[in-house]
Amino acid sequence: MKNIAVIGAGKFGTNLLNTFAQLERQGRCHLVAICDINPETLKTQSEKYRVNGYLDYREMLTKEKIDGVAIATPDPFHREPALYAAHLGKHILVEKPMDTTVEGCLEMIEACNKNNVLLQVDFHKRFDPYHREIAKNVREGKIGRVEYGYVHMEDRIEVPAKWFPSWAPKSSPVWFLGIHFFDLIRWILSSDGKKVYATGKKWKLKSLGIDTYDSVSAMVEFRNGAVVTFDVSWILPEKFEAIVNQGLRLVGEKGVIECDSQDRGTRVCFEQEGMMTYNLGFLSETQDKFGRIEYSGYGIESIADFVYNLEYLEKGGSPEQLKKAISGLGHDGLEATKIAVAVQRSLETGQVEEV
Ligand SMILES: NC(=O)c1ccc[n+]([C@@H]2O[C@H](COP(=O)([O-])OP(=O)(O)OC[C@H]3O[C@@H](n4cnc5c(N)ncnc54)[C@H](O)[C@@H]3O)[C@@H](O)[C@H]2O)c1
Repeated sequence: MKNIAVIGAGKFGTNLLNTFAQLERQGRCHLVAICDINPETLKTQSEKYRVNGYLDYREMLTKEKIDGVAIATPDPFHREPALYAAHLGKHILVEKPMDTTVEGCLEMIEACNKNNVLLQVDFHKRFDPYHREIAKNVREGKIGRVEYGYVHMEDRIEVPAKWFPSWAPKSSPVWFLGIHFFDLIRWILSSDGKKVYATGKKWKLKSLGIDTYDSVSAMVEFRNGAVVTFDVSWILPEKFEAIVNQGLRLVGEKGVIECDSQDRGTRVCFEQEGMMTYNLGFLSETQDKFGRIEYSGYGIESIADFVYNLEYLEKGGSPEQLKKAISGLGHDGLEATKIAVAVQRSLETGQVEEV
């Protein structure tokens, strides 16, 4: 059984920890240690998950017996811990975006190849059953050659303004949200990005003292000729019915596919909370027969997939075969980052940019 550690135990790190703790109960891994530079977060999380806590990932990675490490530090800070872990021969699951630079992604891939370790990126949109069905239909030619498409992904404003205002200026809706769908569309189309034109607004968040884009519209031409427009923003009002709104549409020579990736059909309105739409497909909490919380959904599956991949490799599974499976790997992280970098460049130059 593999020993797993987590670096960055904040909001999304908790999702990683819940997944590994659940897999431990199922006898599929050991959650051995947590690292976070915030002493309060570290204390709370290491007590909650009953594991050793470290303020410094270097100390954790050298002292503990760890096979694989999951990294959920803020967007621009995945690279250093990943490189350190790779050089010590640890397998890596890194949150999206893999890195916010192309050079960083290349360096991470090189380090993992050199040390013969798995480099996986948590691109959970691939694990959404509705998206898997879209990918299958597109690959089977059900809508013919895709000519154009449309994606939207929008968070409520509390995400950049209240959850992580300290690092939101070092990120953007492109890095935090767009990257999910750059990967998904690239995966569905089996085609890399080619050219980008993007435009964005810095109005609302800047007025609140957070210097980052509110919204970005990016038109991406893929190598197979499909042109997909991505509208991403993180300024929806706090009263919006869900923390995230998302969906996609693809139009081809022979058909069209539309998916509301947020509203899966259940709406409620409570006196206190107001109107709410659920996407239980992403994360659902139920109780098992012992009354313990059981997590399921594609937001969990894509993390658990890292542990399954380590089991597969240990049993002699082929890394080449893994590349054909659903997991987002280092190369996918690199290609998604290349699109995001071109989008950020186009925002600055106002020009069409090569991916
Ligand atoms: N897959 C998804 O759907 C999804 C959703 C949300 C966030 N994320 C990603 O997860 C990452 C973390 O986001 P979050 O919302 O949890 O942010 P967060 O601010 O809540 O948590 C980040 C944590 O990392 C810690 N940290 C920072 N530098 C560190 C270091 N060098 N070593 C150890 N710990 C360090 C911080 O103290 C903090 O507790 C981001 O890259 C984000 O894009 C992914």
